[in-house]
Amino acid sequence: MNKQRSHSLETRVAQACHYIDEATGGINPPLQLSSTYARGPDYEFTGDYSYSRAGNPTWAVLESVCADLDGGVEAQCFASGMAAVCAVFETVEPGQHVVAPRIMYHGSQDWLRRISAKRSIELTLFDAADGEALERAVQPGKTAVVWIESPVNPTWELIDIAAAAEAAHRAGAVLAVDATVSTPVTTRALEFGADIVFHSATKYLNGHSDVVGGILVSAADDDRWQEIKWLRTFMGGVLGPVEAWLLLRGMRTLFLRFEKASASALEIARHFEHHPRLEQVLYPGLESHPGHDIARRQMTRGYGGMLSLLVKGGADAARAIAANTELFLRATSLGGVESLIEHRASVEGPHSSVPENLLRLSIGIENCRELIDDLEQSLDRL
Ligand SMILES: Cc1ncc(COP(=O)(O)O)c(C=O)c1O
Repeated sequence: MNKQRSHSLETRVAQACHYIDEATGGINPPLQLSSTYARGPDYEFTGDYSYSRAGNPTWAVLESVCADLDGGVEAQCFASGMAAVCAVFETVEPGQHVVAPRIMYHGSQDWLRRISAKRSIELTLFDAADGEALERAVQPGKTAVVWIESPVNPTWELIDIAAAAEAAHRAGAVLAVDATVSTPVTTRALEFGADIVFHSATKYLNGHSDVVGGILVSAADDDRWQEIKWLRTFMGGVLGPVEAWLLLRGMRTLFLRFEKASASALEIARHFEHHPRLEQVLYPGLESHPGHDIARRQMTRGYGGMLSLLVKGGADAARAIAANTELFLRATSLGGVESLIEHRASVEGPHSSVPENLLRLSIGIENCRELIDDLEQSLDRL
């Protein structure tokens, strides 16, 4: 595979790093469904693969594009975002310490709470809105992993990745960044000093709401990375080759989709910013957003397609607005071509710390005017 590093990232991703199949000249990778690979009479391997839980050629193409996309040494794909998240935290030893934001993707936090309760791993949750809270939370010599999202889901506060990397490294920890929402289109976390980047590939990377998958990308081929590889093989949370193939196909249009979603989300955020039925529109691209200065530094190519509305009238009013949309689909998830709306506290359940009146919107690639009209009619019906 020719990586063509002299070309721009969007060109490289559109061409899957100028992929040409050596055997056929095909410009898409073949889909290799074999679970196992024949060996010679003395059990020597005849090719690069032995068994598909340990590796397969469809992953190899996908992983090489993902490593390039984030600028890491290597990538690994997993059966879901959560399988990848769990693999990272599986490297933390009892007695060590993990730091993460108080508001973040609830599934990752639920997992952290579980390992903290079961395995004597100390967990500190910090307030992402307080710029110094992360620095205070790390414990030199004890913190193993600092895990952040930027922007955090679903209030979209920004965490300064470079400052987080410095704080983590001073304490002897690694910084892992959940880049599901920002994507490397606009923020390449490794360039800001992160050690590991994580994506729920279910979201923007795939972009069509038809694959569940996870990706990790590492800045270094170190012991932790080797352990994560081992864990993937032996815990078995591996991506099926069909999903790997579909994911790579979806990724080729990542830049187009993300840029369209970002442009529409900004227009929608501006349109509704002072709407009389809303308390606040949370979107990092708005100048009124508390994290806007960090967003301008860190999000170099659009502020993404995710925004939240804080509705006047509490949970009931928020739920009614979501119930009345005709174009926005009521479903959880994000980063697909279709726009979604969800009352986040209902989706997260009784332990949610998300404001009761918050509606989370994932903006897709539809006609932006029609999306605005749909929200307008829904707000009018309140
Ligand atoms: C920010 C974020 N991180 C992690 C995950 C988990 O990924 P998956 O659903 O692919 O397991 C999600 C899924 O919603 C997410 O939104």
